Amino acid sequence: MHDAKAFRSMHKERFGAEPAIFVGPGRVNLIGEHTDYAEGFVMPAAINFATLAGISPRTDGKIAIYSENQGEEKVFDGVQAKGIKYWTDYPIGVVSILAGEGHKIPGFSLSIWSDVPLASGLSSSAALEVSTALAVLSLVGASYPGPVLARLCQRAENEFVGANCGIMDQFISLNAKADHALLLDCRDLTYKLAPIPDHVALVIANTMVKHSVAGGDYPTRRRESEAACAVIARHRPGVKFLRDCTLDDLKKSGNEMEPKSYLRAKHVISENLRTVAACDALLKGHMKELGRLMGDAHRSYSQDFEGSCVEADAMVALAQDLPGLIGARLTGGGFGGCTINLVEQTEAAGFAEKLGARYAQKIGITPQIHICHASGGAHRLE
Ligand code: GLA
Repeated sequence: MHDAKAFRSMHKERFGAEPAIFVGPGRVNLIGEHTDYAEGFVMPAAINFATLAGISPRTDGKIAIYSENQGEEKVFDGVQAKGIKYWTDYPIGVVSILAGEGHKIPGFSLSIWSDVPLASGLSSSAALEVSTALAVLSLVGASYPGPVLARLCQRAENEFVGANCGIMDQFISLNAKADHALLLDCRDLTYKLAPIPDHVALVIANTMVKHSVAGGDYPTRRRESEAACAVIARHRPGVKFLRDCTLDDLKKSGNEMEPKSYLRAKHVISENLRTVAACDALLKGHMKELGRLMGDAHRSYSQDFEGSCVEADAMVALAQDLPGLIGARLTGGGFGGCTINLVEQTEAAGFAEKLGARYAQKIGITPQIHICHASGGAHRLE
């Protein structure tokens, strides 16, 4: 966990000024994968892994960014128009988008530290964008409603970093509530909070296989599913996103699609139904039903969307008969990263231990397994 005191002294020592510190949490998605950019539904929760961003003004107009994780400081001559394909693109992208919104950005020093595992499907990127955005906004004396700021951070990732992500990660990092999951309608950004009962732990199991949203597979899947939507739209002109489509539409025009597109769309359309049903189950305390929906979601993600990998499928399979399991699936952008396991709190420690041992034996990699809880959204650290 972060040590804010040490972080504060580190910033002071490096930049000679007291920082204002902001926290942006990572997230785990309970269900609703690759549905956000199709204007569908997702149900994530923020987790107790986060990025800290400490900011102080400077008088030379420069923007200095130090990352404790990268062990590197980079200095820029003010706002930049384009990314340089480097870790600094995330914070600099946020600055660029805020400048584009009319904010006059003064020089500043920014320190960054994070314990959100990188490239593991837990939204380290969004945690960095969101904490940076709050830091820079504090400097210019401005603020935005959470949903609006989430869009700006998403734009930083889409337009500056060049990763074609949806809105889920930035939205949950900003708008999460402790001990709750959040069902987000990615069409109008309205949401419903669902309490996660005390007796349920979020056990996050890292396959240690790296995933990337900017890399090839994520945009390919996105294109394939959007191609299916375009075919359906030829028959139903009102259709703009897979959110607008039904399984019946798919049945009717499926034979006009590439087989891969058909399968991707089948996942997205059915995932939207499962996600809404999962929120309902959580609200009613029907944990068995929630677990069943998570299992179906994993099968659909793995078999139809082909968004999983051997290691993640193994991690899900190896969890099935362990005591305390409610539901397990691969979480996040796919092709590696982490699985989310809802587990009875009393069994969580044993579950984590056994799952880790089973995975190490089967795959030959020691996984990191974290027993997490749903945390609150991004905020200033007092
Ligand atoms: C990544 C993206 C999100 C979302 C998920 C898949 O986390 O950043 O916008 O598309 O993948 O559900």
